[in-house]
Amino acid sequence: MDTNRIQIFDTTLRDGEQVPGCKLDTDQKLVIARQLELLGVDVIEAGFPISSPGDFKSVMAITRAVSEPVVCALSRAVKKDIERAGEALQYAKRPRIHTGIGTSESHIRYKLRTTPEDIIERAKGAVRLAKSFVEDVEFYAEDAGRTDNEFLARVIQAAVDAGATVLNIPDTTGYCLPDEYGAKIAYLRDNVRGIEKCTLSTHCHNDLGLATANSIAGVRNGARQIECTINGIGERAGNTSLEEVVMIMRQHAHLGLDTNINSKLLLETSHLVSESMGMVVQPNKAIVGDNAFAHSSGIHQDGVIKRRDTYEIIDPAEVGVDESRIVLTARSGRAALAYRFKNLGHNVTKVQLDDLYQEFLRVADQKKEVEDKDLETLISAMVA
Ligand code: KIV
Ligand code: ZN
Repeated sequence: MDTNRIQIFDTTLRDGEQVPGCKLDTDQKLVIARQLELLGVDVIEAGFPISSPGDFKSVMAITRAVSEPVVCALSRAVKKDIERAGEALQYAKRPRIHTGIGTSESHIRYKLRTTPEDIIERAKGAVRLAKSFVEDVEFYAEDAGRTDNEFLARVIQAAVDAGATVLNIPDTTGYCLPDEYGAKIAYLRDNVRGIEKCTLSTHCHNDLGLATANSIAGVRNGARQIECTINGIGERAGNTSLEEVVMIMRQHAHLGLDTNINSKLLLETSHLVSESMGMVVQPNKAIVGDNAFAHSSGIHQDGVIKRRDTYEIIDPAEVGVDESRIVLTARSGRAALAYRFKNLGHNVTKVQLDDLYQEFLRVADQKKEVEDKDLETLISAMVA
């Protein structure tokens, strides 16, 4: 693998599908899995096979439906989970088992009710057992974000020694600050023997709105895989949003980091996931929200009409959006009004525009958005 190529591990069908109301049946999952393959993701986390017979069936079906991406199945560091994951992946061309255990004091003491030494033993045992089914084993240290770095390095060392190929450092509760998370990745790189043979992975939740920033901090400090979901869906406030991290790396080419994602398919993939899961995308969502390329204030519209990049850092075509939108509201100016009239085939003079603008404001004060049909009414009234 190119050292600056960031692997995209999509967990829409696992962490994303865990969200209340987002459950999908196998057929819907297959449609999404095929779209993720077209999009160019490197890994599809297809599900958690022990969780239900339906999820087991879906994971198995996805292994047959895609050929390029690695297909990954989740398990806890528990024998029956790992065995079930191995079984679900038996026909996969490129199988991966994702196994792991909580490592923070809170998880060890209150959730698992055990000792740090026992966690290390269970981590080792889980990776070894997973290795008996597949070569590619990813280990996750759940709640690594709140885990003391020295202890985390001991657990990760055990996973590396047991043969893990990928090391996932989840900020499960979305607690870390970007510099802290980046430093955690750097600390592991510097303090775990043999870690250079493995891929370090980020898995950040968005409880404080920092999932994207933390994932980027992770890759800037040596992680080479980002775990993310379409539209950032996932437990509670969600996971890192795939479209955001991909476009950050594209827009900041000086970072020297890139992915295999065909960004022109981002919008259609976003719509597919949103419609299948019945999960509306907030209009102001970066990259794929309805307003991500819409301009409504007079100052911005004037700039964009003169030259798009005055207020847009991404060419909408790059992410599959047809074009930027000039939305007419009571905050719009004459330039936007003339632009929209021109698009409707009406070239108005400056004097006509002045008159039309006063009428436009009257309508705009009564409506959220002035539409083409309102503009036609304004023009007809003027002509009459
Ligand atoms: O957030 C998390 O820690 C997870 C693990 C199961 C990888 O989703
Ligand atoms: Zn998660």
